[in-house]
Amino acid sequence: MSKLKKALEKAKSEYPSIQLHTPEKREVTPIPVPGEPSVPRREVNVNYSNTKVRPVSHDQLRQNKIFALFSQEKVNDQIKTLRSQVLNKLKKLGANDFMITSANPGEGKTFTSINLGVSIAQELDKTVLIVDTDLKNPAKDHYDFAKDFFSVDVETGLADVLQGKVDLNDALINPGIDKLTILPGGTYLHNSSELLGSPQMERLVKDIRSRYKDRIVIFDAPAVLACSDPFQLTKFVKNVLFVVEEDKTTGDDLRKALKLLTDIEMIGMVLNKSRTN
Ligand SMILES: Nc1ncnc2c1ncn2[C@@H]1O[C@H](COP(=O)(O)OP(=O)(O)OP(=O)(O)O)[C@@H](O)[C@H]1O
Ligand SMILES: [Mg+2]
Repeated sequence: MSKLKKALEKAKSEYPSIQLHTPEKREVTPIPVPGEPSVPRREVNVNYSNTKVRPVSHDQLRQNKIFALFSQEKVNDQIKTLRSQVLNKLKKLGANDFMITSANPGEGKTFTSINLGVSIAQELDKTVLIVDTDLKNPAKDHYDFAKDFFSVDVETGLADVLQGKVDLNDALINPGIDKLTILPGGTYLHNSSELLGSPQMERLVKDIRSRYKDRIVIFDAPAVLACSDPFQLTKFVKNVLFVVEEDKTTGDDLRKALKLLTDIEMIGMVLNKSRTN
């Protein structure tokens, strides 16, 4: 048994876990398949009446791997199982927010945050806000939350809200998906760690957590072994969903990362890009 398998088996015995597969590469269907959910281009929640709407085409969202919108994608079933597990756990905890992190960059945190968020927004009684808390100048191979997943170019976001440069309501975006709002990261920062751990962040988290009671808030965080930012976030967001990438995250990385995450509630582990059944 590989080191990762051992570490993972141990973690899995302690926390609920789910596998997410990588769909096989195939041509993107250019025309929406009959029976597919259409992507509504309107806001449904009157509370978001001031929210900017930036609709993205159906095909683009599929290319950007927002598979939760497409029922014929096999991974959609796994995302739905993950959704049930996470919602059950949150209900037990009486919580409506959690963060997603992993040991290293590129293991699928943003993919999971967005697909899970979109899937939760499809539940009848839930609205979702996904917050990009990756505020540092990104590595070259980093996929940007707003630009690469939602194809929206934005200049302002969480970083600007925390610095008092824009109001939260002006930074929120509805990407044309029913009941889903996103808060992009905004201007890159050198002092992201300080801002994420600041009283401004604490107030913002309290505000967005309490404003709408049926809203689930997902914080897409950076990697635990890459910088101290996720730890700043755990001061205010205690529930953590942890992503492990099959064949990439090592057992040592997993152990190190879990050891560093103290004073948190681990709500589950995701084995991402899994090829085993
Ligand atoms: N299960 C999956 N199936 C297919 N593609 C995936 C899957 N998980 C992640 N990816 C793709 O892998 C790439 C990296 O994923 P992602 O951006 O979510 O990683 P990350 O952990 O957020 O990285 P970073 O630490 O740089 O923010 C993206 O192109 C994403 O679409
Ligand atoms: Mg990311």
